[in-house]
Amino acid sequence: MRIGDYDIHGQVLFAPMAGVSDRPCRQISVQYGAALATSEMLISDTKLWNSAKSRTRLDFRQNPGLISVQIAGADPSQMADAARALAERGAQIIDINLGCPAKKVCGAASGSALLKDLSRVRTILRSVVAAVPLPVTLKTRTGWDADHLTAVDLAQMAQAEGIQALALHGRTRAQHFKGQAEHDTLKRVRDAVDMPLIANGDIRNAAQAKHILSDSGADAVMIGRAAQGNPWLIEQVHRYLSGDHEDRQIPATERLSVIQSHLQSLYHFYGEWMGVRFARKHLNWYWQAAGWPRESLGGFYQLETPELQLAWIQEQAA
Ligand SMILES: Cc1cc2nc3c(=O)[nH]c(=O)nc-3n(C[C@H](O)[C@H](O)[C@H](O)COP(=O)(O)O)c2cc1C
Repeated sequence: MRIGDYDIHGQVLFAPMAGVSDRPCRQISVQYGAALATSEMLISDTKLWNSAKSRTRLDFRQNPGLISVQIAGADPSQMADAARALAERGAQIIDINLGCPAKKVCGAASGSALLKDLSRVRTILRSVVAAVPLPVTLKTRTGWDADHLTAVDLAQMAQAEGIQALALHGRTRAQHFKGQAEHDTLKRVRDAVDMPLIANGDIRNAAQAKHILSDSGADAVMIGRAAQGNPWLIEQVHRYLSGDHEDRQIPATERLSVIQSHLQSLYHFYGEWMGVRFARKHLNWYWQAAGWPRESLGGFYQLETPELQLAWIQEQAA
């Protein structure tokens, strides 16, 4: 798959997830085979980029792989300004997020019925594409709700406006995260456009990923929640799609060693106080993914320093 001038080596992408797919997390996903890991979303109003949260999202130093940065917003000129500002800071791909339902994450853009207003979307896409000499990609849902399934129209419009790849989460915005994602819409989108297509939503294992790709004709899969605490899923899907169907058992020592280096990057990236707090959330996911008993985690939540947290992990390995 190519996005603009970039070759994307592999068919497994790590999904942007605000509060999850920060640089430390993206680094591990890429280490385990993610061909592209788009940053967490930034709101398009650059005046708000001075918050601590935005500043960490704008830190592209040592970014793993291509620097694909996501923006969300409803105002075309603000979106164009944001794209320009990101290009100046070194972004290599601008990803537009349409249809994010989380008010906390997307602010005003979450409430705006953008997915019902394709003429406004056209203006946004056109403004962003014109603003930067970079490939612009789009991530969206199947529509606003069951009565407004806009994916095919949106894909055609996006292609005509110069969008270089489309990731489709197989739910409407009204569905939030309820029910099961579907990938039939993707097939219809595939028939309508030639641009690279990425399947997203509830992808949890390698055989399912392969099935979705062959069934829909999509070029790649994007995995989010199932890869939290489980970068080995990305590796497994990547290997399976390359023809290696062997099911590798992950030794506990490997899990603990990845956890240790993940925690170390969290302390380094956020500073100790924040890093210690983020470590708790990620550790919980690693434990879940490994199927290890939750009760055994209890003691970890009380630990207040990197040294104590790392020593605790070390003890689990002993
Ligand atoms: C905590 C969380 C944060 C998310 N933040 C973003 C985001 O910033 N941008 C975006 O396009 N999608 C975001 N999403 C949606 C995911 O990228 C993805 O489309 C969705 O989770 C479905 O894929 P999955 O079933 O593999 O997780 C978020 C999802 C979750 C669970």
